[in-house]
Amino acid sequence: MPEKPEFSFRQTLHMRRNFIGRSCKLHFEAAPLKIVRASRQYLYDDTGQEYLDCINNTSHVGHCHPHVVGVGQEQMAKLCSSSGFLNEQTTMYAKHLISTLPESLCVCFFLSSGSEANDLALRLAAAYTKKKDVICLDGAYHGNLGTLVEISPVRYKKIGSAHQPREWVHVAPTPNTFRGKFDAKTENPGLLYANELIKVFQKAYQDGRQIGAFISEPVISASGMVIPPENYFPCIYRYVREQGAICIADEVQCGLGRCGEQFWGFQLHNVVPDIVTIGKPVGNGYPLAAVITTKEIADSLMDFTSTFGGNPVACAIGRAVLEVIENEKLVSSAKNVGKCLKDGFKAIQPKHPMIGDVRGVGMLIGVELVMDKESKKPAREAAEILIYKMKERKIIMGTEGKDKNVIVLSPPLCFTTDNARYVVQHFSEVLANIESEAASVGLTNLDEVGSTNVPLDVITDEPSISIHALSDEDDEEDEESSAAKRARYEEVD
Ligand SMILES: Cc1ncc(COP(=O)(O)O)c(C=O)c1O
Repeated sequence: MPEKPEFSFRQTLHMRRNFIGRSCKLHFEAAPLKIVRASRQYLYDDTGQEYLDCINNTSHVGHCHPHVVGVGQEQMAKLCSSSGFLNEQTTMYAKHLISTLPESLCVCFFLSSGSEANDLALRLAAAYTKKKDVICLDGAYHGNLGTLVEISPVRYKKIGSAHQPREWVHVAPTPNTFRGKFDAKTENPGLLYANELIKVFQKAYQDGRQIGAFISEPVISASGMVIPPENYFPCIYRYVREQGAICIADEVQCGLGRCGEQFWGFQLHNVVPDIVTIGKPVGNGYPLAAVITTKEIADSLMDFTSTFGGNPVACAIGRAVLEVIENEKLVSSAKNVGKCLKDGFKAIQPKHPMIGDVRGVGMLIGVELVMDKESKKPAREAAEILIYKMKERKIIMGTEGKDKNVIVLSPPLCFTTDNARYVVQHFSEVLANIESEAASVGLTNLDEVGSTNVPLDVITDEPSISIHALSDEDDEEDEESSAAKRARYEEVD
C-alpha cells in the first residue's frame, strides 16, 4: 500500500497551478500524474499504480539504482559542499570520465545542468577563438539559459513573433533525410546538407560576422531522434576547423552509452569534437553536468567558479553511475534492447499508414506519425492522442519534433526485451484504433488497415559483447567495483 500522502492529488494539482509558473508544463497537462516513487524502469503514482517509463533518460541506469543511492547517501553524510578545496571524489570522477573519451579531451569542468554546461562551452569557444558567433541547427534545443534559448530554434520559435533572432546566431538546416531538402534517396545527402551549413557560414562572413563555434547534438533529439547522414559531421568538422572555429558536441541526451554502439554519440560519426557537454544521465537524476575539452581550450578561460559544480556528492554519484554502466554492461544492453524496439516498430510500419518513419540508434528511438505516407503531413493530434491512450495502458511515452508528431522513446537502460515487445504490441493496437477513427472521418487513407498482430519473432534477444565489457584486467576488480556489483536491485527487493 502506498504511504498516505500529506496532500491529495487534487490539492497538489491546485497548489501547483497556483504556486508554480504556468510555463512549466506538466507531462500529460490535461490529465497529469502524481508520481511518488520509482524503481528500475517503472514509475508509481499516488494510488500505487505502476507505469512503464519509456522516456526518463535522466534515470539512465534505472530509477533509484541502489548502488547510486547508497553512494550518494554515504557521501551526503560525510561531506556535501567544499567548493574551492581539494576533494578526491571530484578528481577521481574527472579521471574516470576522461578515460571514456578520446585522448585530446582531457580536462573537465563540473556544473549542475546541461544548460550550464552548454553555456560554459560557448564561453570557452569565444575565449579560445576570440569569436563570439555560433552556428546551430534549426531543429536544435540546447537549454534554458538566455544564451541557449537563442541557439535553440525549436524553443524560440515557440515564443513566436516576439522573438528577435540574434545577430551572433547563424542557423543551418537540420540534416533530416525523412523530412527536409534532401531525402535518403538523394545521392550523398550528408555532403549536400553539409554544403547547406557551409553556405550559412559563408553568408555570415560576407556580412562581416566571425563564427567561433558550431554546436550540435550527434543525434538530434529535439527534432525527434534525427541521425545526421554519413559524411555530414566529418565534412562539417573539417570545414569549421579550417575557418578557425571549433566544434561542440552536445551529448546531454545521447551520451554515456545510450546509443548502444558506442559510449559517446559523436563516435557514431567518426569525429572528435573540441568540446563535449554532458548532463541529464550523468547523475542518474541528481543535478550533475560537465564540460570536457582540450587542455588548450580549457586554459583559454581565465576564471570560472561554480558553487555546486563538482561537489563531492555529485561526483560520488557520477562515479557510481559509470560503475553501474560498466558492471551491468548497459552499453550492450542499450544496443540489443534498442534494436528490439527499433526492429519491432519497423516490423509494424508497413501495416500502419500513419507510421512515416522509424529511426534512432540504441535506446534513442523516434517513430514519426504522418497523415499519410505520400504527403508526410505531420499527424500531431494523432501523436498526442496516442501518448494519452498509451498512458491509459500504463506506458509513458513522449512527443518531440517541430510538429510534435514524433513519438520518442529514451528509457532507462535497464529496459528489457520483454518491455520492448510489450510497448510495440500496445503501440500497434492503439495506433490501429486511431487510424480507423481517422479513416472513418476521411482524415487518413486506410487502404491497408493496421493489423494489431505484431510479428514478435522480429524481436529477438541477441547475445552480444559489450564494447565496454570488462577486460581481463578489469576482472581483478577493486573493492569499490565489487561493492557496486553487490548493490543491485535484487538485494533491495
Ligand atoms: C540536447 C539538450 N541539451 C541541453 C539540455 C539542457 O539540459 P538541462 O535541462 O539539464 O539544463 C537539454 C535538456 O533537455 C537537451 O535535451
